[in-house]
Amino acid sequence: MHMATNSETIITLGFEGGSVDLRRKPSTDGTWEYAVSRNESAMADLLSEEDEDLIPMLVSEPKHWVPSFDEGMRLLEPYHWQRCTPYQIHPEYRNHVWDHVVADRHSFRSMDRWARACGVSYRPDLVTLADWILASRSTVVLTGAGISVASGLPDFRSPGGWWRNIDPTTVATVVALHQDYDTFHAFYSHRIRALEGLIPNPSHEILAKWEGQGLISAIATQNVDGFHQMAGATTVYELHGSIKSVRCSSCNQPATVEAFLSKTPCAHCAGDLRPNVTLFDESLPQDAWENAMKAISVSELVLVIGSSLNVYPANRLPRMTNGLSAAINLEETAMDSGFNLVIHGKAEDVLPEIDQWVQSSR
Ligand code: APR
Repeated sequence: MHMATNSETIITLGFEGGSVDLRRKPSTDGTWEYAVSRNESAMADLLSEEDEDLIPMLVSEPKHWVPSFDEGMRLLEPYHWQRCTPYQIHPEYRNHVWDHVVADRHSFRSMDRWARACGVSYRPDLVTLADWILASRSTVVLTGAGISVASGLPDFRSPGGWWRNIDPTTVATVVALHQDYDTFHAFYSHRIRALEGLIPNPSHEILAKWEGQGLISAIATQNVDGFHQMAGATTVYELHGSIKSVRCSSCNQPATVEAFLSKTPCAHCAGDLRPNVTLFDESLPQDAWENAMKAISVSELVLVIGSSLNVYPANRLPRMTNGLSAAINLEETAMDSGFNLVIHGKAEDVLPEIDQWVQSSR
């Protein structure tokens, strides 16, 4: 059946017993105008030639033309288009329609069908996590080395990670510090220099933005690189200390990173300087640990990003929540089964997509 106007159908939506078209036609200023025409009954398609005069009762001509696509989409509201079946969407409008779907996603029964009609792929698990973040009144994020890989830092246990080439007990313990200061000093000098020129990546920035938007209440990090703070996050609990500051290993007086790098002894007692990182045979900084535990124990959602959860006691934190738990990690970890939701992928790939779903519903 063809409308007697110079308009063309750009969207056809089906509903019980009929369909509705969003049509466009050229307007005098060279853009498009939009209107809806409805086909209230599938009968209209089945009418025989001699009954064609019945069609006007069943099929409406587009009458009310509007100058923009968004206003055209609003003309579909009376048909509750979110509950319709998208039969066809003109390729020029698929991204625009998908933006409307994303913005109004809670009205949809099946986003999959709309994703297919718009020719887009999306991950429902990312939408779920976005909804949990939006619904949670207190979310704590626990990060590991995986979140900083996109900034150019190796993690520890992946291929190419620090502990793939170095036995941590030979460098990252108090025993190593006292028995082989040269090796200890060489390792931490290398890690300090490896940080030079590196900056936070979009994952750090998104978490800082979410904190600013009140979507997360704290970040507990096992990382010592300071990237969360550099990205603007303010409530950061550094469970394993920081490599950005130095103290004397004997009298604990603070010293400069430069003094450490140049192997200058402590100005107060001539002791060996060391970075303020938590070594394997040391307990965690008390404030950071207690604040992290307190925040997680009252949280409604804990989100772990980029950690193998190999190291005690940080790996105990996720189970301390009485709420939901989710993890974003490149690989499977032994703790995956303990989470309500696990998303495998690179943080720098999935967080921006999750953020799109979060921002579209704020
Ligand atoms: N996105 C998400 N996850 C990633 C990415 C990425 N781009 N790259 C790597 N990963 C994952 C890896 O699959 C791995 O499971 O991040 C995890 C990093 O795990 P580890 O290397 O064990 O680092 P982490 O869990 O932070 O180690 C904890 O161990 O050596 C100590 O003190 C050190 O703080 C460190 C602690």
